[in-house]
Amino acid sequence: MSASARKVKILGAGSIGNHLAHASRSLGWEVTICDVDPAALDRTRNQIYPGRYGKWDDAIRLCPVADSPRGGFDIICIGTPPDAHVPLVVGALGEKPALILVEKPVCGPFLEGAREMWDAVAASGTRVCVGYDHVLAPATRKVEALIAAKAVGEPMTLDAEFREHWGGIFGAHPWLEGPWQTYLGYWRRGGGSGGEHSHATNLWQHLALCCGWGRVTEVSALVEFGRARDAEFDKIFALHARTEKGGYGRIVQDVVTRPTRKWARVQCAEGAIEWRANQGPRGDVVAVLHADGRTEEFDFPKKRPDDFICELRHIDDLLAGRAVESPTSLARGMDTMLVLAAGYESGITRKPCSIDYANGYQRSALRPA
Ligand SMILES: NC(=O)c1ccc[n+]([C@@H]2O[C@H](COP(=O)([O-])OP(=O)(O)OC[C@H]3O[C@@H](n4cnc5c(N)ncnc54)[C@H](O)[C@@H]3O)[C@@H](O)[C@H]2O)c1
Repeated sequence: MSASARKVKILGAGSIGNHLAHASRSLGWEVTICDVDPAALDRTRNQIYPGRYGKWDDAIRLCPVADSPRGGFDIICIGTPPDAHVPLVVGALGEKPALILVEKPVCGPFLEGAREMWDAVAASGTRVCVGYDHVLAPATRKVEALIAAKAVGEPMTLDAEFREHWGGIFGAHPWLEGPWQTYLGYWRRGGGSGGEHSHATNLWQHLALCCGWGRVTEVSALVEFGRARDAEFDKIFALHARTEKGGYGRIVQDVVTRPTRKWARVQCAEGAIEWRANQGPRGDVVAVLHADGRTEEFDFPKKRPDDFICELRHIDDLLAGRAVESPTSLARGMDTMLVLAAGYESGITRKPCSIDYANGYQRSALRPA
């Protein structure tokens, strides 16, 4: 199938729905955006899309969910709040798309419905990817290559941080007064720094696999909660993680850091490899810091829309058979959910928490009865 033939349905006319619609249109795909809230469809046409991309695109079809077409789509994107993801994935399977792209985090930290969703996906002919787009970025590919080439020797420790004051997120949602008006203010719904900035956990896991360390088996967390009106969210979500092959490192996510820091570092025996996202006009930057003081830097210029165009090109490659494996697979996204769930459990109980992959998706000691 040629790229221009793809038909895409996007559930959720919010921030990510607009990004994915624009990226799809950039690839010449047909787009229908659906939302339960008519105001969100209006905002998309009159505010978000023209504000970000210069003008509205009349080829995009906007549709209330109640009237939305079912069936005939190659790709269904789920860009709603996280607590709606699982039932929407299961519902979308009934439409038999070739691929579902569900946004991160896959679900809330209690993993409600995750096992049932996993089984339903496995029994279907549909592939599911999760929106952890940073692992597809050219800068991440460069870090992978440097690790594989042992550019600065054997990996020893790994750090990943996504630390961003959520003023930036509210800037992209000017119609919201504060965290109490959105899932972002509710950690149990997949908001807070644990869910919102889970790109850091996912990137850490990805780089750990590249280092040959395997999956995370134990975490020890510090989770700092805050409140605003009736919202309850983790301001800081910080983990120490250990992997099945003895790899070790730290993950820090927060909604308080200004200016933003989205960063990872692989410390190796003879130096370090750093991944630095969004370094102004330089785009993403990869630095190799040699133990003798030399530094090499590689720039990957990009604008925000490029993140999502890169993600959809990868999906196109999967559907066309040009790529087989995906670092954004549902299995990888669920592994991230297990680490997040274990992190909250460890932070709340103040004890280390191990991850049981065999029973994983059912297990969350915090899940209400
Ligand atoms: N990959 C990334 O870099 C990235 C960037 C932004 C957001 N996200 C993720 O995307 C998701 C949505 O975030 P957002 O900022 O776009 O939120 P948002 O609040 O801007 O938009 C969500 C939209 O979903 C709609 N919605 C709710 N339930 C629905 C349903 N059942 N069917 C159809 N529409 C429904 C809401 O009315 C709202 O308009 C979150 O999981 C977030 O973490 C990912």
